[in-house]
Amino acid sequence: MTTVLTVGNLKGGTGKTTTATQVAFNLAYTKHYKTLLVDLDPQSNSSTILLKTKLNFDSKASTRAKASLMKAVQDEALSEAKISIYSNLIDQLDLLASSADFYNFPRYLEEKFPNSYEDRIHYFAKLTQDLFNQYDFVIIDTPPTVSIITDCSLYISHWVLITVQTQQQSYEGALTYLQYLQNTVINKLKAPRLDLLGILRVMLDKGSSLDQAVMDDITKKFGEENLLPTVIHAQSRIKRYGRTGITINGYFDKKALNTYDQVTNEILERIK
Ligand SMILES: Nc1ncnc2c1ncn2[C@@H]1O[C@H](COP(=O)(O)OP(=O)(O)OP(=O)(O)O)[C@@H](O)[C@H]1O
Ligand SMILES: [Mg+2]
Repeated sequence: MTTVLTVGNLKGGTGKTTTATQVAFNLAYTKHYKTLLVDLDPQSNSSTILLKTKLNFDSKASTRAKASLMKAVQDEALSEAKISIYSNLIDQLDLLASSADFYNFPRYLEEKFPNSYEDRIHYFAKLTQDLFNQYDFVIIDTPPTVSIITDCSLYISHWVLITVQTQQQSYEGALTYLQYLQNTVINKLKAPRLDLLGILRVMLDKGSSLDQAVMDDITKKFGEENLLPTVIHAQSRIKRYGRTGITINGYFDKKALNTYDQVTNEILERIK
């Protein structure tokens, strides 16, 4: 049985990509689950992070897919965009890589199904089925937008994890996103199995009273039961992974790995 989890928030820069890549990495590396990270964001940040991660383990490894994600959709063969992150250190992690041409995805679906928004979403759901069934976990990184891309992602997901940084805009983005999930994705689009996994808090500045105030608002508004217990504190090593890919050798790598191992445990606990 495959579990599909979308990481989302309407606001940009709230830790979606960081969380999606770290959780996917952890599921495969620490827990040995067969895991697919799907990058549905044309910015392709999580693709870059995982491909750099692959090179960190094997500098001569190939980072090319047979086709871009957009081309794979057009060919109705999603696995053409799949790249294995396999090395002798990590097995079972694959990436469905995005690139800038995925910006054309909404227009492509509009032209293919001019009359029905739902048909576009159902079509994408069908396209993903065979590939997704090969995994224990599929983690989807989404762009910070309300669009057919996020709708497609949420429609095929069992769970959504909302990442929120301790900034007012991030908090408000999470609130709007939650309403959108209920009013549009569940009520209108009839996502068949979507449920809220929880809210993951990323604390930017532990010492700041403003960050603490936003944190208190988040706790009050969403309710303790909807929050993952672990709060991710700012770690410069985690920030650096955006540039270097994930590394696992140093003290700060182990700290980052540990943090996200806790988060992964909490996710697994809730899924059970
Ligand atoms: N725990 C952390 N400590 C320090 N920096 C972090 C942490 N988590 C995320 N960041 C940094 O915050 C920035 C935004 O994170 P990220 O790219 O994951 O957000 P995003 O929601 O995917 O953004 P976008 O909406 O643009 O896709 C990045 O520079 C990232 O490295
Ligand atoms: Mg991102």
